[in-house]
Amino acid sequence: MSQSTQRRSETADSAASNDGDTREHPAGEQLPGPDGLPVLGETLSFLSADIEYGTELQSYGDVVGFEALGRQFVAVYDPEVVQEILVERDDEFCKGEFERQLGDLLAPDGLVFTEGEQWARDRRLLQPAFTPGRIRSFGDTMVARAAATVDGWDDGAVVDLRSECSRLTLDILTRTLLDLELDGERGRVVREVVDAIGDRTSGFASVLPDWLPTPTNRRFERRMNAMDDLLETLVAARRTANGDGHDDLLSTMLDAEYPDGSTMSAETVRDQLFTFLFAGHETTALGLTYALWLVAGDETVRADLDAELDSVCGASDPGFGDIPALELTGAVVDEALRLYPPAYAIYREPVGETTLGGYTVPDDSTVMLAAYQIHRDERWWDAPAEFRPRRWLAGDDDRPEYAYFPFGGGPRHCIGMRFARMELQLALATVLQRVRFERVTETLTPDAKTTLDSGPVEMRVERRDR
Ligand code: HEM
Repeated sequence: MSQSTQRRSETADSAASNDGDTREHPAGEQLPGPDGLPVLGETLSFLSADIEYGTELQSYGDVVGFEALGRQFVAVYDPEVVQEILVERDDEFCKGEFERQLGDLLAPDGLVFTEGEQWARDRRLLQPAFTPGRIRSFGDTMVARAAATVDGWDDGAVVDLRSECSRLTLDILTRTLLDLELDGERGRVVREVVDAIGDRTSGFASVLPDWLPTPTNRRFERRMNAMDDLLETLVAARRTANGDGHDDLLSTMLDAEYPDGSTMSAETVRDQLFTFLFAGHETTALGLTYALWLVAGDETVRADLDAELDSVCGASDPGFGDIPALELTGAVVDEALRLYPPAYAIYREPVGETTLGGYTVPDDSTVMLAAYQIHRDERWWDAPAEFRPRRWLAGDDDRPEYAYFPFGGGPRHCIGMRFARMELQLALATVLQRVRFERVTETLTPDAKTTLDSGPVEMRVERRDR
């Protein structure tokens, strides 16, 4: 749940003021929250990577203060306050120091971490790679790659879905958005760096300095270096092939011009490429893993999905045109992202002292929007812990808009949202058409790392006649 230390430094962003809101608590009233240990505060619990720690904090209220890692955190469990922060008062919040520490370690100039004008001009530059028309054209590749993945599984075999889905979503991302095929070795470099990042940026390893030669630090350094070499090779190959008719995200990065006529620096291209390879496959892999695991545990949902697939697709592969009719498949995606949101918390920092839910919040606080807990709050969801995809089809949406925000919200919502939803729906349909799964991993205890990490998810494969 945390990160620290720096690979590259960046200056802090913006300062501004705000009017704040006024609720039932007079501004200045102390935030409710745990007292914590002297000096350490809640650091030990915070570093435990236990997703349920955020649930324990919720017992103090909807806006909760706690100290950890020598900083003031404010956890938010109220969907209205989430909406204020991400949408209505978004100019009063930035990503802030906590996020910047992770950015400095990975890709400071990548879209996830930049702020202000630098972020706005890069988002504008990269957005054309994600138009509905572009995304739509990726449908066949998504289905073909999912089918090829299933073809690699023998009847009766036990597979680790977490790593199979990771391989699949990386394959899809690189073939579609980057027009690249990463062979086994180069794909391994990317997947290994994701694991190393998870270990390096969560738990107690995250607070140890870079220079300490711990096995985690050494592995992280080694894998980041391998990743940098790979990125350099990919960019060099594309530059050499300039004019070969590529029309994708990588070419957009290399060729597009900012309004002042300048282009992206080599360092920024590296950081953007890193960001998309990381943010664009790890999250989707987890979403697909959770969805398939949940379906395998519910015979009724599985039977209804079989019926939907048979009636919509018959013996043919699913395609982009089938998406509206694959209603239950879409609802399974929504429900999996509700129960297990890969981005389980979103962090922000107020640009000046402010108020949230009526409480005064100091300017250097780290505000944590608790998606995992809000998605499971019984005030907004019936039987919140249960897997009930049909709740999405019942028109029962009388709840605050931000009771569900797996892709964030406001100007910084996920740029890959449309891509990810389509990929999840088509991949799920393609896999379920071909196989059934029996759970070998019976219970999941996900870790709150950079993403909500499922750990290995073993499933026995049974081939299904179409
Ligand atoms: C199920 C899959 C995914 C989930 C749950 C997810 C979740 C999120 C969330 C919650 C944010 C907002 C973070 C914040 O406000 O601090 C975000 C931002 C982002 N996502 Fe995704 N994402 C997914 C898939 C993707 C894909 C497929 C791509 C790229 C192809 C992608 C690229 C990005 C980028 C670049 C940002 C930063 C956007 C910005 O700040 O302008 N994501 N994602």
